[in-house]
Amino acid sequence: MSAVVSHDRILVGFKPIDDLHKEFESILAALNDPAEADYGAHLLALHEHLLRHCETEESYMLQEDYPHYARHKRAHGHLLDSVSEVRRKFDAGDVDAVRKYAADLMSWFAIHASTEDSELAAFLKGQTP
Ligand SMILES: [Fe+2]
Ligand SMILES: [Fe+2]
Repeated sequence: MSAVVSHDRILVGFKPIDDLHKEFESILAALNDPAEADYGAHLLALHEHLLRHCETEESYMLQEDYPHYARHKRAHGHLLDSVSEVRRKFDAGDVDAVRKYAADLMSWFAIHASTEDSELAAFLKGQTP
C-alpha cells in the first residue's frame, strides 16, 4: 500500500515545472486506477511524459547554468532507467512488477520534488526578474 502524498508536496512554485508535476500526477493516477487495465498504454504514456519532464528541467538547468546539474541529471537517469526496466518486465508478462512500481513511484517522486526540483525552482525564480 503506498503512502498518501499530498498534492502540495509535489508543487515547487515554478509554473512550468508545476505544470509537469500535475501532468505526472494524473498520468500516474491512471496507471494506478484499478478500473483501467491497459498497463501497456499507461506505461508508455508515463515513459514519454518522464522523458519530456526530465528533458525540460535539464534544459532550464543548462540555460541558467545551474550548479547542481550533474547531480539532478543523475537522479533523472535512475528514474528513466527504472521506467525502462519496468516496461521490459511488463513486456515479459510481469504485471505484478508494474503494479508495485506504480504504487511506489509517488513516494519517490515526492522526495525528488521536495528536494532536487524545489532547489532548482528556487534557483530559477532567483534568475528570472
Ligand atoms: Fe520534476
Ligand atoms: Fe527533477
